[in-house]
Amino acid sequence: MTSTAASPSAREAHPEHLGHVIFIAAAAAMGGFLFGYDSSVINGAVEAIRSRYDIGSAALAQVIAIALIGCAIGAATAGRIADRIGRIRCMQIAAVLFTVSAVGSALPFALWDLAFWRIIGGFAIGMASVIGPAYIAEVAPPAYRGRLAAFQQAAIVVGIALSQLVNWGLLNAAHGNQRGTLLGVEAWQVMLGVMVVPSVLYGLLSFAIPESPRYLISAGKEARAREVLAEVEGRHVDLDARLTEIEHAMRREHRSTFRDLLGGRMYFKPIVWIGIGLSAFQQLVGINVAFYYSATLWQSVGVDPTESFLYSFTTSIINIIGTVIAMIFVDRIGRRPLALIGSTGMAIGLAVLAWAFSYHLVDGKLPATQGWVALIAAHVFVLFFALSWGVVVWVLLGEIFPNRIRAAALGVAASAQWIANWAITASFPSLSEWNLSATYVIYTAFAVLSIPFVVRFVKETKGKALEEMG
Ligand code: GLC
Repeated sequence: MTSTAASPSAREAHPEHLGHVIFIAAAAAMGGFLFGYDSSVINGAVEAIRSRYDIGSAALAQVIAIALIGCAIGAATAGRIADRIGRIRCMQIAAVLFTVSAVGSALPFALWDLAFWRIIGGFAIGMASVIGPAYIAEVAPPAYRGRLAAFQQAAIVVGIALSQLVNWGLLNAAHGNQRGTLLGVEAWQVMLGVMVVPSVLYGLLSFAIPESPRYLISAGKEARAREVLAEVEGRHVDLDARLTEIEHAMRREHRSTFRDLLGGRMYFKPIVWIGIGLSAFQQLVGINVAFYYSATLWQSVGVDPTESFLYSFTTSIINIIGTVIAMIFVDRIGRRPLALIGSTGMAIGLAVLAWAFSYHLVDGKLPATQGWVALIAAHVFVLFFALSWGVVVWVLLGEIFPNRIRAAALGVAASAQWIANWAITASFPSLSEWNLSATYVIYTAFAVLSIPFVVRFVKETKGKALEEMG
């Protein structure tokens, strides 16, 4: 035992544990997969829900948006649950909620029942959005933390892509009719119901991974924390020093309460605001418009609406490629440079979209040149988002908060992210009717503003132990 916890050697990689740590991170990231699948699968079911319950666009939008409110509440609550009963138990609660919501929303007996199960599913997504990054950051050895924490975003983007494929496949099997019969029910019900499988798997996997050593220390279970640290960081790390380091950082430890997030009576601590800012910018650039409303874009270049699911899948492939690029670079060049490169690329893509949509649409279509320029610009935007803010925000949210307030602060930041997501996706239909070009100018402005935000407020976390963030 030569190295002390604070020495560089303690930060070095111990490859013999890597396989195990990868398994742990991947199991926890199943929550991200469900987050991606569940939040995007509804796109394939909307038309069927509209026709089955004979409702107008406004009511339909409510049924869909309500899930995002469930996400915000789930995220806000998850931190407290994770601090009280542990990270693993929190995953298990989310898995149960995902499972019952999949069954409930696949077999609703009324519209309000469907809305209810979508809120429950949203609650589970919100929980998963907090617990994944918090848990992975807490178990990962510092040298690999960025890449392992990026598993969460990788799982989200794979979840989105798979939901598009499933929707497209089921729609084809049902001969292009979302209400066509499959397995004795309507196709859209199968789209929502198949989520039972990954939900149960998530629950089962959570029994195969250890509790977070930082949570264990806060719960007074040092001996178990030591075992888990040995499991993930290796026995040749000076475990006593690591334990002391973590305990020292948690010295005045007590379970965090909402009050611990506050700087003054009414104000959040600056670090909580930075988390909220990261979350807000990630959404205010309009990324989910590219996913939730992709059909609008495809149709403006003349793609047949029924084929747009398959075309949207190409956007997801770009999203996955960008995520892999981020995973390669996040621990090498760091979080800040990636975020800055991403903001610049996104601003360019969005500005070009604003230019293209400043041309008149004839029969809902852009002139040919502008149409193709818009399509390429939209994919440049998605690529730059994926290789930067998509991954970096979830990684940073797991890292930047002190141990004592991590889960609770992440809950607040993720909750802000769901609210911003809701604000953008709910306002897009009216904004785009008013002026699509100006809408993209607004998103461009947010991409530009994110640059000084990162330069001024975001510290690099690459390679540091969580206890060194300060
Ligand atoms: C990030 C965002 C999420 C978005 C996804 C797209 O995970 O938080 O809102 O849908 O990226 O890849």
